[in-house]
Amino acid sequence: MNYTNLQNSFLIDQINNTLNEKQKEAVLVESGPVLVIAGAGSGKTRVLTYRVAYLTGILGIPPHRIFVATFTNKAAQEMKERINSLMGTQVRDLWIGTFHSLCVRILRKEIWRIGYSQNFSIFDRDDQKKLIKDIVGKGERPDRFIHYISRVKTYGEGIEDRFLNSVFEEYTKKMKLLNALDFDDLLVLTLKIFESFPDVKNHYAERFLHILVDEYQDTNRLQYEIIRHLSSKHRNIFVVGDDDQSIYAFRGADLRNILDFEQDFPDARIIRLEQNYRSTKNILKAASTVIAHNRLRKGKTLWTQNPEGKKIVIFECDTEREEAETVAKIIEKSGREYRDFLILYRTNAQSRAFEERFHLEGIPYQIVGGMKFYERQEIKDILAYLRILVNPKDEIALLRIFNVPPRGIGVKTVETVKNYAEMKKVSLLDALKQMESLDLHKSRKEKLQNFFSL
Ligand SMILES: Nc1ncnc2c1ncn2[C@@H]1O[C@H](COP(=O)(O)OP(=O)(O)O)[C@@H](O)[C@H]1O
Ligand SMILES: [Mg+2]
Repeated sequence: MNYTNLQNSFLIDQINNTLNEKQKEAVLVESGPVLVIAGAGSGKTRVLTYRVAYLTGILGIPPHRIFVATFTNKAAQEMKERINSLMGTQVRDLWIGTFHSLCVRILRKEIWRIGYSQNFSIFDRDDQKKLIKDIVGKGERPDRFIHYISRVKTYGEGIEDRFLNSVFEEYTKKMKLLNALDFDDLLVLTLKIFESFPDVKNHYAERFLHILVDEYQDTNRLQYEIIRHLSSKHRNIFVVGDDDQSIYAFRGADLRNILDFEQDFPDARIIRLEQNYRSTKNILKAASTVIAHNRLRKGKTLWTQNPEGKKIVIFECDTEREEAETVAKIIEKSGREYRDFLILYRTNAQSRAFEERFHLEGIPYQIVGGMKFYERQEIKDILAYLRILVNPKDEIALLRIFNVPPRGIGVKTVETVKNYAEMKKVSLLDALKQMESLDLHKSRKEKLQNFFSL
């Protein structure tokens, strides 16, 4: 037996011994559209991961012809590691990542077709806010504009509001000038390229023999259109999702995707996974009772071999303080390690009562997913320098670093440069180049000169 066969035999062994029958059925589908629909903790991600290993390791599909969309970058990383360990080797050239990162890959190659250059910057919400403040002035809160812009892009739903729409137009114009894309653009423009250039679409549709999507219930309309294009040639589209678990409806995720899959792919195989591996019977029973009220669900019954487990306890408290106190008491009385506890809350502001109480009692804690403000700022400052180097038109990045680290360049000086650039209709960088014509005191110019010569 040669080396490859040895690796395969490990993979075959794993497929046979660590999957249940339904999971195995899903992993081993040869081709065609497949919808795996299942509850939380039933092994959907495991199935997807094994399937990628099966496709490359046993069917011999080259990794660069497989496209896997995950919901987060972290999930992609974990999946990659798991695939490598199933394969017993580093799998290279697999297209795996979030929709956004996969679109970036396509856009870096293709975006020249629609008049951007390939060194485009990607604006996060913070950058968007700055740009919008530039457009509407300091008095307005930028959030509602960002929200509106995103809705129009994702759903094509505008409203008749002259102010909103003029901001939208100005924003779009500015973004193009800065050679910058926001997160929605990554999807919108990929789709636009596919739709305007059929040969480009065909190229990718030809290339990707298999398209796999995790957390399919949370894909939005644009993402769905993208995978429909990508799978138009080979029709090997494999999606796993949970119609009861869509937590991102407010972000444009569209439950209809999952419910309409059968309609769009009438020959799709539907596989339901109903055994849960993560929770006790009591927890499962409670969850099932709650989601039984969901409208628009396809209906599935979860069961588990796990033990009954402890009963779920509900406490009602009148105030935040009382709530935090109660939780602290439960933790202290339990006799368990602090790291055995997890507290979930709906909004970040709700952490405060808990934090105060825990400080008081000396209970150590760690906030997950909250923004570590200073850390983030520094990282973003460094990124801003890199962005300027790659895309000199990126003025939002430039404005960010004028005085970081502090070099005595004040708001007034920056305003002068900005006004000059606007008046002369040149970029900020060009305005700096024409420093001699700026209406500034000599010492200020020197400081700018120092910055510019960086
Ligand atoms: N057939 C199985 N046997 C044992 N454990 C399993 C099996 N399938 C899944 N698991 C475990 O159950 C947990 C949930 O699996 P995961 O793939 O993350 O589920 P989902 O994506 O559906 O939420 C993981 O810890 C996984 O390793
Ligand atoms: Mg999962």
